[in-house]
Amino acid sequence: MKTGTKKEIKKETKEKTSHTKTNTSSTKNTSSTFHPIPTPSPSPSIILDIENISKAFGGVHALDKCTFSVDQGSLTALIGPNGSGKTTMFNVISRLIQEDHGKIILQQSSVDKLADYSLARQGISRTFQQVRLFRNLTIRDHLEIALDQDDESLLKSIKYELQKIAHAILTRSSSRNLSSPNPSSPYIAPNTTHKKINKVLALVGLQKPLTTYVTDLSYGQRKLLDLAIAIAKPHTILLLDEPVAGINPQLRDQIKAILRNLHQQGETILLIEHDMNFVMGLAQKIYVMDHGTVIAQGTPLQIRTNPQVLQVYLGE
Ligand SMILES: Nc1ncnc2c1ncn2[C@@H]1O[C@H](COP(=O)(O)OP(=O)(O)O)[C@@H](O)[C@H]1O
Ligand SMILES: [Mg+2]
Repeated sequence: MKTGTKKEIKKETKEKTSHTKTNTSSTKNTSSTFHPIPTPSPSPSIILDIENISKAFGGVHALDKCTFSVDQGSLTALIGPNGSGKTTMFNVISRLIQEDHGKIILQQSSVDKLADYSLARQGISRTFQQVRLFRNLTIRDHLEIALDQDDESLLKSIKYELQKIAHAILTRSSSRNLSSPNPSSPYIAPNTTHKKINKVLALVGLQKPLTTYVTDLSYGQRKLLDLAIAIAKPHTILLLDEPVAGINPQLRDQIKAILRNLHQQGETILLIEHDMNFVMGLAQKIYVMDHGTVIAQGTPLQIRTNPQVLQVYLGE
């Protein structure tokens, strides 16, 4: 499922640092939007390097010289009280918003004023704190689109949903009664396989028929589908924003096991979580944010006993 094998990343690094303008990604061409940097990042194992990122919304300093890094193959957690800047950091990394200052280096390449679709191609797949799914699409629709991820996938999925809504209106029937996509639809997802879809659903443990519409899924099942979509998209790093927020303890344990399993399979995961206990025994490294900056970093044990961290959480 992942696009960048270690071998490919190594090759890419070597070629980019030698100032070639030719894209070296094994799958997609992104060289026009990535700017090779003259020197390699300090450690070849760092896949994502965040350097002094600042972002203000009016008078609110959501991010204030925030600095941290993520090692390839690691499960890293970003924790902190509400409003400490965690989601804003994800929005900057995934290019939904532009930082005011600072630098982001992804797979040895400096990311600057990059459109989010280009970054997605480069290998970031993320989930949102509030699950974003298309109401009129089924589980299968969502995963077919995810597996067929490319520049135009979002446009395709919007177009696809609009077609179904338009069809429902024209036939004066509820869009929920549309049992299958219009066969004359110009969007038929290529390269999709039943096997891949079943594999990712088995991985997250979502046991619902593929034809189930989003509107017929519970909140927890939508969280699982959202996670499945992120996993299915071609990527080299997964950014997960509070994947267990608002769900019951049983499902929390299920998602914890899924993340541990993904990590063991070699995924690089950056996980935002508000609840410190959830990341204990899961993350290898934890960064603690407060007021837009990293105030502590370490292993779960180090963080659990850090007086400054406890102070920040008590002060919530
Ligand atoms: N688009 C925005 N406009 C104005 N303020 C924002 C915006 N996004 C985030 N903020 C503010 O930035 C701060 C950090 O928010 P956020 O990154 O969502 O925190 P967290 O995810 O850690 O709870 C908060 O004070 C929040 O109100
Ligand atoms: Mg948040």
